[in-house]
Amino acid sequence: MNRTHNNNELRIEHVGQVVELKGWAQKVRNLGGLIFIDLRDRYGITQLVVNPKEVDEQLYETAIKIKNEYVLCVKGVVVERESKNPNLPTGDIEVKVTELEILAEAETPPMLIQDDTDALEDTRLKYRYLDLRRPKMQRNLIVRSKVMQIVRNYLSSLDFIEVETPILTKSTPEGARDYLVPSRVHPGEFYALPQSPQIFKQLCMVAGLERYFQIARCFRDEDLRADRQPEFTQIDIETSFLTAEEIQTIVENLFAKIFKEIKGIDIKVPFDRVSYYEAMSRYGSDKPDRRFGLELVLLNDIFENTEFSIFKQVLENNGDIRAINVKNAADKYSRKEIDRLTNLAKKYHAKGLAYLKYNNGEFNGSFSKFLTDNEKQALIKRLNVEENDLLLFVSDEFETCCTALGALRKQVGKELNLINEDVYDFLWVVDFPLFEYSPEDGRYYAKHHPFTSPKPESLPYLTSDPAKCLAQAYDIVLNGYEVGGGSIRIHRREVQNQMFAALGFTQEEAYKRFGFLLDAFRYGTPPHGGIALGLDRIIMLLVNTENIRDVIAFPKTQSATCLMSDAPSKVDPKQLEELHIKVTVDEE
Ligand code: AMO
Repeated sequence: MNRTHNNNELRIEHVGQVVELKGWAQKVRNLGGLIFIDLRDRYGITQLVVNPKEVDEQLYETAIKIKNEYVLCVKGVVVERESKNPNLPTGDIEVKVTELEILAEAETPPMLIQDDTDALEDTRLKYRYLDLRRPKMQRNLIVRSKVMQIVRNYLSSLDFIEVETPILTKSTPEGARDYLVPSRVHPGEFYALPQSPQIFKQLCMVAGLERYFQIARCFRDEDLRADRQPEFTQIDIETSFLTAEEIQTIVENLFAKIFKEIKGIDIKVPFDRVSYYEAMSRYGSDKPDRRFGLELVLLNDIFENTEFSIFKQVLENNGDIRAINVKNAADKYSRKEIDRLTNLAKKYHAKGLAYLKYNNGEFNGSFSKFLTDNEKQALIKRLNVEENDLLLFVSDEFETCCTALGALRKQVGKELNLINEDVYDFLWVVDFPLFEYSPEDGRYYAKHHPFTSPKPESLPYLTSDPAKCLAQAYDIVLNGYEVGGGSIRIHRREVQNQMFAALGFTQEEAYKRFGFLLDAFRYGTPPHGGIALGLDRIIMLLVNTENIRDVIAFPKTQSATCLMSDAPSKVDPKQLEELHIKVTVDEE
């Protein structure tokens, strides 16, 4: 039998037609002899009915055997239902079965296969193929597939060429650890899985392709979070001869297209440009969520004569004192709650959290006894303090102060439901510092990657004062998520060499790692730049989930394992031998 319709198609106008359907038994009910089966396929559900009075004995015997998740093929007549189900597109009809075949039997599944399943995520991951039968998961994968088509069509229409770059490659540094693959034919040597196709896409520009894109799998061995996977997918783009603004416009229009086609939403282009400094100082994050207020306010001038020793010391060390005013929330945060927020601030390296509550015209809190009348008046004015407001203060050097307070802002915003979930707030964060100093390692690291071009006005300071240099880099942020990042690249060999020097690489080290890029730069390199968008994160935002695993067919757990296939796993000693590898870890 071949199907005539899918399980989401039949309506009242089909009554009387003979149809053939296939699918899984979602639910089976036996009501005094009448057997009702919800038949599910990827499109929807159709109710089947088997009436013992109207079918032959053999068919009925078969029908009684059907259990959840059996795969069926049926032929029958569409009839109008006696009790209609307004919640189902096919709820006006049912199919009276006249022929029935069980295509496959099924054991009782370990989880409920429906959107509101009560299964734990571990069960869902172990039986991922069952989890993926749930309509919600299928919708996520369908959105993902559609977005990839939109990306391909849009970029192809702009003359971009889709190029695949190697998976077995030499490590390209993006700041995470590499996944390594041992070479059998070259004992003791390793490939690295790409953290991104960064160097290859730049080489595509040297090769004269002008406009490259790839939907590229990337691999990073880093600490996982709700929006991070060890292998994830980028929409990777590189162009020659375009300015940062021109690249940004291409990306803005791509987002506009995706949001129009997937969600029917017109998003406003161009997106705002916010400097890194502004993002950090107003929102305490380089990926600010601007869907709510609670902005950070600088208070250094108010406290310039403070007697509160912590603030005093920070100011002496050229640090900042910043606060957020959590409106009308003093009564919502007890001592214990404030302790919880303090721990959060400490997680972001703040030494502590100072707070004030404003009730009946009085400030009370961790340092209220040090407040002078002038300071009180100034705080009230600057932070617009009213009855029952809660003020949270962090004092530290700029980055720590902003980041810790930014984390509190986000947490409190969430807890107090201040976030407008109906808004899609896109922005570009620009004017990033080129470098980031690591006090532990006593050296500078590239804030993005070592191929990012400094702003022209920063060039003179590249080796003399790296901290002063700004990058021609741009991140795209949506609702507090970094959904992409890119830059104009260094295309001159001598600048690239200076960059490596600023990062503490000797000429030899740089040449050993990136010699092939430096060599390529000898032969006429066009000015170029690009971006990579995090496909998984974009899909998360499109389908409203905070869990990246919900948009990846076969994801890894937080500890980078696959519960279904049991990867990673031990391998045969013979395989190790061939790879010239000796495992030194103790067998437990
Ligand atoms: P970057 O490292 O910023 O840039 O990565 C680009 C985007 O990829 C997404 N992303 C991730 N998504 C899920 N899991 C992860 N572990 C993960 N890591 C990154 C983010 C991020 O914005 N080569 C440069 C791009 C360039 O300069 O063109 C790069 O990879 O959304």
